[in-house]
Amino acid sequence: MKSIEEIRSDFPILGSKVYGKPLVYLDNGATTQKPRCVIDAVNEVTMRYNGNIHRGVHFLSDMASEMYEASRQKIASFINAPKKEEIIFTSGATGSINMLAFSFGERFVSKGDEIIISCLEHHANIVPWQMLCERKGATLKIIPISESGEIIMEEYHKLLSPKTRIVAVSHASNALGVILPVSDIIAAAHSMNIPVMIDGSQGIQHGSVDVQKLNCDFYLFSGHKIYGPTGTGILYGKETWLNAMPPYQGGGDMVDKVTFEKTTYNTLPFKFEAGTMNYTGAIGLATATDYVLSIGMDSIMDMEQRLKQYAAERLSAIRGLHLYGDCNEKISTFSFLLDGIHQYDTGMILDKMGIAVRTGTHCAQPVMNFYGIEGTVRVSACFYNTAEEIDILAEGIEKVKAMFA
Ligand code: ALA
Repeated sequence: MKSIEEIRSDFPILGSKVYGKPLVYLDNGATTQKPRCVIDAVNEVTMRYNGNIHRGVHFLSDMASEMYEASRQKIASFINAPKKEEIIFTSGATGSINMLAFSFGERFVSKGDEIIISCLEHHANIVPWQMLCERKGATLKIIPISESGEIIMEEYHKLLSPKTRIVAVSHASNALGVILPVSDIIAAAHSMNIPVMIDGSQGIQHGSVDVQKLNCDFYLFSGHKIYGPTGTGILYGKETWLNAMPPYQGGGDMVDKVTFEKTTYNTLPFKFEAGTMNYTGAIGLATATDYVLSIGMDSIMDMEQRLKQYAAERLSAIRGLHLYGDCNEKISTFSFLLDGIHQYDTGMILDKMGIAVRTGTHCAQPVMNFYGIEGTVRVSACFYNTAEEIDILAEGIEKVKAMFA
């Protein structure tokens, strides 16, 4: 088991300074930092094995293709997908949801149908469904939340109906950190033969995910939020659904035979991977999963839950600090406001102390509308953060308060 010092030294950026102060990076919900092995993997492919995948007979193309497909297998094993063909590489969670909403919608959604999401969703899990509803004449139904930011399950049960075509919810809220009861959500939908998509953008990096145990129909995430390169993502789907869905984009590699009269499509997963894929990034993403597995997903969960506990104690002891989404089932993410101080001021002053947090609506305006606020300050910690950094944050918040007193 690595020490926290060893873990931190795996991430070159964590040792850096901003404005002459040691960096305290607490914006992991927006993007995570990259361990050296991921940076090296991307560099190595670029420097030694760059050849377009699935297209050449030459050494470089073969090597890159082999590494890309081995990465697909690694991701499949990482989430325990039964088959590697069920893993589609995308540009990120947004790319995955747009693909799903379009392709699933083309085949399975018609006028009068309903799609269920929750009030906690990121815009990326709202807008693609809205666009689909507009195209098809379907209706979007929203699971409401309580004051503590938890979805109201009784209301969810009432929304499920024979008109529901799919339920699409996040594993955890990016704005509040609240974990959704995804197993119960899936079981209730399945009892009515309704498929469920889980947006794992804020779930995959915080503990082990087993898509067979969850029994979700689709699971997706962004690579850059699990210590991988930007511009990478995954859409996992059960083979039966993916086979029934039409392609999202047309282009090279997704075809079988092309004539001007008719085109037939490639099999899974290539049917959904048109054009030159980000194979370099995909290989980097697989390296990131190797890295988190070397730490251990259960260890990551333990470390983050301990940090969450500590941060909850420190933050709730600050007078005039109001937490949103204050409940037990949470990832190590906290959303708050300080009495009488705008979130941007708090964020900008913390930044000058070397502390990186996110401010604003966190691409989840409906959550802010629910609370009747314009935005919050969001602290999102992960396993490489320390209790000392939480102390620096708490002291920083006191300084912000003192400046506005
Ligand atoms: N969706 C990312 C976040 O929550 C960018 O900050």
